[in-house]
Parts: sequence; C-alpha cells; structure tokens
Amino acid sequence: MQFRLALVEDLPSIIKLEQTFDVGDRASKESYKRLLKSKSVWILESNKIIIGSAIVLIRTNSRIARLYSITVAENLRGQGLGKKIINEIVDKLKNLNYDKLSLEVKESNTQAWKLYESLDFEFIKSIENYYADSSAAKRYVKSLN
Ligand SMILES: CC(C)(COP(=O)(O)OP(=O)(O)OC[C@H]1O[C@@H](n2cnc3c(N)ncnc32)[C@H](O)[C@@H]1OP(=O)(O)O)[C@@H](O)C(=O)NCCC(=O)NCCS
Repeated sequence: MQFRLALVEDLPSIIKLEQTFDVGDRASKESYKRLLKSKSVWILESNKIIIGSAIVLIRTNSRIARLYSITVAENLRGQGLGKKIINEIVDKLKNLNYDKLSLEVKESNTQAWKLYESLDFEFIKSIENYYADSSAAKRYVKSLN
C-alpha cells in the first residue's frame, strides 16, 4: 500500500471514489485541479488502485493544517484504512512542524466523527448552519506536538 500525493491522472478515480457518499461540501472538478496544483490531495493506493483519498489544506503563514475531506472506498470501510490515512497525514505534518490538524464534520456523520475521536481529535464545538444544506458541523482539533 502506498500513500502519496495525487497526480492529475488520478482525478477521475478520486472523483468516482467520492461519489459514493454525501459529503458536506464536495470539491468540484475545477477546485480539484487547483488543489492538485497546490499539493493538497493525497491518495492511498493498493496494486495501482486508489482505495482512499484526503484533502489537506496548509498555508505557509499558519501552523494549523485543515483536513478538508477523507474518503475510503465503500467496499473497504471499517478495516482501519481511514485510520491509516489520518496517521500518514499526521506524520507528514509533524515532519513539516505543523502544530495542529483541524477539521469540521457533519454532525450526522457518526462514522467519521467516531474515527476522529478514536484518533484523539479534541471536540471543540458544534456550528449550526455550517454546510450548504444548512446542516450543522462538529469542529475537532488534533494537537501534533
Ligand atoms: C469516514 C471514513 C473515512 C472512515 O474510514 P474507515 O476506513 O471506514 O475507518 P476505519 O476502519 O479506519 O475506522 C476507524 C474508527 O472509526 C470508527 N468507525 C469506522 N466505521 C464505523 C462505523 N461503521 N460505525 C461506528 N464507528 C465507525 C471506529 O471508531 C473505528 O475505530 P475501531 O475500528 O477501532 O472501532 C469512511 O467511512 C468513509 O469514507 N466515509 C464516507 C466519506 C466520509 O464521510 N468522509 C468524512 C467526511 S469528509
């Protein structure tokens, strides 16, 4: 299994992977192209097949990175791959001296926030009307120090 930055040619597979669920605000194809250029898209690959992806936003003037989205292939969920992706991201961010990893998740997405809580993300607060469909978010932060 390999965890690496996504390339333009990975885009169709990544988009297909994401179509299997109802994310809060999904990145469009155009925004994905920008995200690829800024090296924000990561993939987990097994035998050349993309089985997971994540968007991690970083800024040069901030030590706080943001996990914008994470997806595991539908047929492979519940086997620890989500945990693996986040652990890989955490390692990379630590090496780059980031202090924190923050994220928002739909309050209704129990699977996702259970994953974050199992990895010691700290629940910060709920935010009403966060997503385009007016649903609420939960904000979490993980300390990387
Ligand atoms: C959220 C998601 C990435 C989790 O990936 P995953 O590979 O299934 O997660 P893991 O197998 O690593 O599970 C890690 C932890 O998450 C929690 N978890 C995962 N699936 C769960 C489920 N069905 N019910 C309850 N908790 C669950 C558990 O705490 C689990 O730890 P444990 O196995 O030690 O109990 C995956 O379900 C997914 O792709 N969902 C659709 C996309 C999405 O909603 N992304 C998040 C918002 S962008």
